[in-house]
Amino acid sequence: MDIISAATFLYHFFTGRAADAIHAYLNRSLPPLAAAALLFILPPYLFIKLLLFAFRSAFSEDVAGKVVLITGASSGIGEHLAYSYAKRGACLALVARRENRLTDVANIAYQLGSPDVVVIRGDVTRAEDCERFVNRTIDHFGRLDHLVTNAGVSPMCMFEDCPDITKLAPVMDINFWGSVYSSYFALPYLKRSRGKIVVIASAAGWLPAPRMSFYSASKAALISFYETLRTELGSEITITIVTPGLIESEMTQGKFLSKEGRMVLDPQLRDVQIGVMPIRSVGAAAEEIVKGACRGDNYLTEPAWVKSTFYWKVFCPEVLEWCNWLLLVAGTEISERNALSFKILELTGLKPFLYPPSVQFPDLTETSR
Ligand SMILES: NC(=O)c1ccc[n+]([C@@H]2O[C@H](COP(=O)([O-])OP(=O)(O)OC[C@H]3O[C@@H](n4cnc5c(N)ncnc54)[C@H](OP(=O)(O)O)[C@@H]3O)[C@@H](O)[C@H]2O)c1
Repeated sequence: MDIISAATFLYHFFTGRAADAIHAYLNRSLPPLAAAALLFILPPYLFIKLLLFAFRSAFSEDVAGKVVLITGASSGIGEHLAYSYAKRGACLALVARRENRLTDVANIAYQLGSPDVVVIRGDVTRAEDCERFVNRTIDHFGRLDHLVTNAGVSPMCMFEDCPDITKLAPVMDINFWGSVYSSYFALPYLKRSRGKIVVIASAAGWLPAPRMSFYSASKAALISFYETLRTELGSEITITIVTPGLIESEMTQGKFLSKEGRMVLDPQLRDVQIGVMPIRSVGAAAEEIVKGACRGDNYLTEPAWVKSTFYWKVFCPEVLEWCNWLLLVAGTEISERNALSFKILELTGLKPFLYPPSVQFPDLTETSR
């Protein structure tokens, strides 16, 4: 303890504020101690993690004949997760609001090797729907092994531009509560099978991207909720928190929740928002996610390089905030097209190399609701 810490400690202690004295002492002494301990602990910790990863890879779960329930399976990531599970021989329960799209997905899943698929129309914002689709899955298959909570929407507007703030409330209802309700009703069955929850969150859960405040908040809430649930449940079930970067889907085609609270297709705003960031093909991303889930990963970022932004967030958050402001906000008072991100995309002509064809040329009639 240095002289200043000792003096502060004694001052608080003798003026009758022992707890404050302890805080003052910890404020000064703990940060350097924690940093030193981390340096000491990190090498063996990382080594053990590597060994466990190798072990989990070697004894990855075989999901053939097991039952997987996927919400938001009518397009994008959810649809391709269904195909990846189907190729591994899993039985599927597919949930979303567009039943006709689910039926198409189910037919392809059969062809890819799934022994049995049920299609259940459901809205994850309704707790009664979540209870119904879980019960329907159990009635049909008699068990549940993986629950994939994937349904989600992305609002895209500046906070101050929302004409009626209440119109954005569904973001939390779908992205957060939809996942929580489904997990709540599925938990007893997952415990019975020692199963898994695969949560499709987002790297936006830690990245402060302008126009995505509600989306980022909903995904941060998801991450925090499932980390806490993991500590409550211990090893009873495995929870894989997936934090994707940019993946080919209807969302990256530009299907957003507008500031008026309507689903719209706005590929130009999508270009502004994504700029020259590469978009991962959805088939490859889904394969990695299912592999990670079967391996029993606690966390999975896809594509993996996106995880490096997390370290920037931890060590220099101001740099991330400033870069995002410069690229996405500066100069956009009159038009979003003035954003630096959009200008770089236009000037470099890199779009054909960075965006998959389905994202560059979205089928407007198919995706708009
Ligand atoms: N694409 C990306 O770059 C990216 C990045 C990070 C995270 N994510 C997350 O990945 C998940 C899947 O999104 P995506 O990119 O694949 O977009 P997507 O193609 O738009 O898929 C969204 C899915 O969610 C379903 N859904 C939306 N609202 C629903 C509701 N109330 N009840 C039931 N289902 C609902 C949609 O089906 P219906 O409309 O038929 O109901 C659709 O199947 C989302 O949670 C998203 O936040 C995506």
